[in-house]
Amino acid sequence: MGQNLRIPGPTPIPMAVREAQSAPMIDHRGTEFAAMLREITTGIGSLIGTEQADVLLLTGSGSGAMEAAIVNTLSPGDRVLVVTIGAFGDRFAKIASAFGADVTRFEANWGAAADPAALAEHLASAKPYRAVLLTHNETSTGVANPLRELAAAVHAAPGDPLVVVDGISGLGAIEFEMDAWGIDLVVSASQKAWMGSPGIAIAVVGPRAWAAAEAARMPRAYWDFAEARRWAEKGQTPWTPAVSVLFGLQLGVRLLRDEGRERTWARHAAIAAGAQAGLEALGLTLVAAPQDRSHTVTAAWLPDGLEWGPFNAAMRGKGLIVAGGQAAWTGKIMRFGHMGDVGIGEMADAVRVMGETLAEFGHGADAAEADRATREAFEQAMAVAVP
Ligand SMILES: Cc1ncc(COP(=O)(O)O)c(C=O)c1O
Repeated sequence: MGQNLRIPGPTPIPMAVREAQSAPMIDHRGTEFAAMLREITTGIGSLIGTEQADVLLLTGSGSGAMEAAIVNTLSPGDRVLVVTIGAFGDRFAKIASAFGADVTRFEANWGAAADPAALAEHLASAKPYRAVLLTHNETSTGVANPLRELAAAVHAAPGDPLVVVDGISGLGAIEFEMDAWGIDLVVSASQKAWMGSPGIAIAVVGPRAWAAAEAARMPRAYWDFAEARRWAEKGQTPWTPAVSVLFGLQLGVRLLRDEGRERTWARHAAIAAGAQAGLEALGLTLVAAPQDRSHTVTAAWLPDGLEWGPFNAAMRGKGLIVAGGQAAWTGKIMRFGHMGDVGIGEMADAVRVMGETLAEFGHGADAAEADRATREAFEQAMAVAVP
């Protein structure tokens, strides 16, 4: 195997996507482009369980879509609750504050998920919020939030605040039912489970978010959802889009539709089970408790006395590219991405190479046994999920 890219995005892109991305340029105001836009947006809508929301494709990274979600639904001074369990929740809070929202933070300790009952309790006793911002899958800690339950807690709160979700590293890979769970707005990005290159941000806007957009007074121009919807009705985008990234995204969405969303979710859950078993077999301690663990990112503590820089360089020398910790957890944890175009072979290989490198650094580990444990946990999980 050449390079094994096991960071939590950008993710490896399948050969079909690479080939599609190198197709000749087309007119972004022509019929071919319109057909492509329609296929991608319809596909994403059905994969995330919405019939009533509009899927908007914006050119930018996921953080751009987070900003767009905020400026299109809120006014300066609006009371906003940000449920943050890590670096990306913190980013949501930072963007909302930058545009003048009155932000309250509802935090869980890093490495844990937010507790729906505690959120419900807070919401019941606080002055009503205009919106609650949530992270579906916190990439910085490898934790998935119980989004369905958190959204239900928000809807039960005084004033029925808007439910705005950063779904960037979960959408397409982890169970998500936009309409059934009452998610008003969710954002994602092409370079995650969608198997595209970086460059397209995805914003899915439901009816209550559209109503909020009409009243929202935060400044916006490039990110204006109403403008994007007006142009989407003609099969176009307001500004020149990342056309080649869209060529690839079209293929990524097709691959996911061909696999079928329940199978995709089961595959990600099973690979996560494999990753967890393999890393534990290497003697590593995982960051998250079993019930909080993400299906797309697994985080483990660096063993005591192991210095991240040289250890990471040694793994990279063997072609294994994993991510380190962010913010306060820099040099303390390592993170494995397993979303999108990934099978258990790549994950088991990553575990084995990590095990061999750990041994070289004096943290004895049985790499072959960990490889076996990874595959076995995967097979068991798949047998239950897809009998
Ligand atoms: C949960 C989450 N939110 C936001 C982002 C930011 O997305 P981008 O880097 O595309 O701006 C990421 C990227 O890793 C993420 O995982």
